[in-house]
Amino acid sequence: MSALIDKLVAENLKALKPYESARRIFAGGDSNSETWLNANESPFANDYSIDSDHLNRYPDCQPPSVLLPYAEYAGVQNNQLLISRGADEGIELLIRTFCTPGKDKILICPPTYGMYAISAETCNVAIEKAPLNNDFSLNLETIKSFQGQVNLVFICSPNNPTGTSVDKEQLQQVLTHFADSALVVVDEAYIEFDAQNTWAPELANYPNLVVLRTLSKAFALAGLRCGFTLANSEVIHNIMKVIAPYPVPEPVAQIAAQALSNSGLQQMTQQVEYLGIQKQQLKQQLLQFPELELIGDDKANFILFRHPLKQALMDFLVANSVLIRDQSKQHNLENCLRISLGTQQQNEKLLALMASFFSQQEQTA
Ligand SMILES: Cc1ncc(COP(=O)(O)O)c(C=O)c1O
Repeated sequence: MSALIDKLVAENLKALKPYESARRIFAGGDSNSETWLNANESPFANDYSIDSDHLNRYPDCQPPSVLLPYAEYAGVQNNQLLISRGADEGIELLIRTFCTPGKDKILICPPTYGMYAISAETCNVAIEKAPLNNDFSLNLETIKSFQGQVNLVFICSPNNPTGTSVDKEQLQQVLTHFADSALVVVDEAYIEFDAQNTWAPELANYPNLVVLRTLSKAFALAGLRCGFTLANSEVIHNIMKVIAPYPVPEPVAQIAAQALSNSGLQQMTQQVEYLGIQKQQLKQQLLQFPELELIGDDKANFILFRHPLKQALMDFLVANSVLIRDQSKQHNLENCLRISLGTQQQNEKLLALMASFFSQQEQTA
């Protein structure tokens, strides 16, 4: 790094490595020839139309064409909702709005989604950890011990990468325990795969509850970058002080509105059902491989498993253009790999490759 840049770059960023998103790890990959089962995206690319008549104008900060149908879909008031560039921006906005850099802290419960920690680090906000128990339930005692020390508690449900849903009674205890000291952020990026366990209807009961949502998963719009923060109006009001003036580009608003129309919602529900069937089939078939152990639960659109040969298996799949995600560096997830659900055809390709990997192993043993 040049001396000037070295001198100027913010102190808290010097040692920071950029987040290794699934897309960055295989940057430049060809989505036509490779099978992407590594970022919990949907395998469906649905059709949308764009009207370019108003592209000369700045868009609404919070376009009603998206805000109103999403509020209705989520069962919240219009003033309890904020649209952002993906749930990732929602995470960052919460940290920027509710944590003072160099002073405040957040609490995370690993193994979990990586962006809570990355966003905090880039904002110079410290991170406390309350690792999940071995069964991936919340460690309530440890979580509660941080009362008064953290401003935000991030809980992911269904959790990425364990696929587990948070227990209702445990979360009630966390919300009550932090009622006067912290916001409890429930990341529901995968909630359409576990719809009955949403916390959105509880906003009225818990002023410190925040729920994150996205169109990236069940709605099959990861490329759109559209997410939502659901919270009480005071929380939303304060985030509005921080958000960029035009966070939702006009084409994004147009496509999101189509995805949230009656037919868009119907399509999403059908695709979630399809993926649910794929998930059960894939789980059963994975269990037939030697020494393979399914880990966590299946409440989202991915499956986590452990295998002692995880590195060789991962290398073999990548060499054969099937990309899955290594989760083995995460707390308690030694030798674990995560598969995002694809189409039946993609899942069959993966299974055929795994079968040939294990038969090669058997022959060399
Ligand atoms: C738990 C969780 N939250 C948030 C996100 C990011 O969502 P978005 O694409 O809306 O930024 C992801 C993406 O993988 C995720 O797994």
